[in-house]
Amino acid sequence: MKSIRVFCPGTIANVSCGFDVLGLSLAGVGDYMTVTQTATKGITISEILGQDLPLETTQNVAGVAGLALLEALESDAGFDIKIDKRIKAGSGIGSSAASSTGAVWAINHLLGNPFTTKELIPFAMEGERLASGVAHADNVAPALLGGFTLVRSTDPLDVISLPSPGELYATVIHPQIEIKTADSRRILKSNLSLKDAITQWGNLGGLVAGLYREDYELIGRSLQDVVIEPIRSILIPGFTEIKEAALNAGALGGGISGSGPSVFALSKGKDNALKVADAIRNVYEPFGISFDIHISNINKKGVYPA
Ligand code: HSE
Repeated sequence: MKSIRVFCPGTIANVSCGFDVLGLSLAGVGDYMTVTQTATKGITISEILGQDLPLETTQNVAGVAGLALLEALESDAGFDIKIDKRIKAGSGIGSSAASSTGAVWAINHLLGNPFTTKELIPFAMEGERLASGVAHADNVAPALLGGFTLVRSTDPLDVISLPSPGELYATVIHPQIEIKTADSRRILKSNLSLKDAITQWGNLGGLVAGLYREDYELIGRSLQDVVIEPIRSILIPGFTEIKEAALNAGALGGGISGSGPSVFALSKGKDNALKVADAIRNVYEPFGISFDIHISNINKKGVYPA
């Protein structure tokens, strides 16, 4: 039976100023998934290493995303999925998106690529709907396509790949507390002031322009979020200290990764990203919360065979 093992990248959604529309794909953080064609129609999940997640197909984001793809094709094919989870659920680094995208990419590959990678986004979004109640695309789009992506619209779906300047590195701290995306969405306000909207879309435009121009200073000063961060940061012990330490150590800017609790900083060059990691580690150790720190460049490939 045909089989493939894939790397399923972690992602930073929102990237500060682009709530629900912007995301980037990480090279050094991700899961591995093995998908094998079977003789029985449908999808089974026979193994999940590293995390206590449901094996039942309709309760697992990989199963749900894969079924959405098979239903669209009216396919009688069958697949078994084994997942080696390295990204913790509720970390803010796109754990559910990694599983959803890995499943649809691998199944599509084993079926001979009836869909383009971009066409897989809506199927992966069904996994996000199961995970958070909202079929947002800002994690699954960069996980599939790689690099930075902009979700201009979800209805109709319009996703644009943006350039990823080569020297951009992310430092991500993951404090070991779980924040469910559904919970951290519930606390958000449904309205915002015109003043905040102007600031936010100024920054979003600035960030996109900075990516195209490879203007690291412009990228840095655009990494500001006056809409979501003031509310969600309250859920993250030490957020202010982490951000301040990162900026003092030379980071271009940063903010909450996805819906948290992970916090990211972007830097120009790996050496700077390492310095930022040291500064964050020093400031966070006294908090008494265990944490992981990842340093990663941007993954330009998305999901790939591994
Ligand atoms: N845009 C989503 C949110 C991403 O912030 O709720 C979740 O990872």
